[in-house]
Amino acid sequence: MDLEDGGGELPTGRYIVVKALEDGVTIMGLTRGRDTRSHHSERLDAGEVMVAQFTQLTAAIKIRGNAEILTDVGTVNSG
Ligand code: TRP
Repeated sequence: MDLEDGGGELPTGRYIVVKALEDGVTIMGLTRGRDTRSHHSERLDAGEVMVAQFTQLTAAIKIRGNAEILTDVGTVNSG
């Protein structure tokens, strides 16, 4: 399968799902490597769902607000 490499940001195969349970939930993408900085932020309103993959650029995410987060390692609620 040909995966498009968005500038050296190859995705891993796994997805995470974040469902906002209130308005104004923010998801921040944190960089991989020695430096941990926020490189992207996304705002979700209640009921909106984001389906995402980790990449070479994004090692971790930070979620602020009340949301349901589904991953391979289980489901957790934030906020
Ligand atoms: N820059 C860090 C790294 O690549 C990003 C990171 C990964 C991180 N996992 C984390 C930051 C857990 C805080 C907590 O390792």
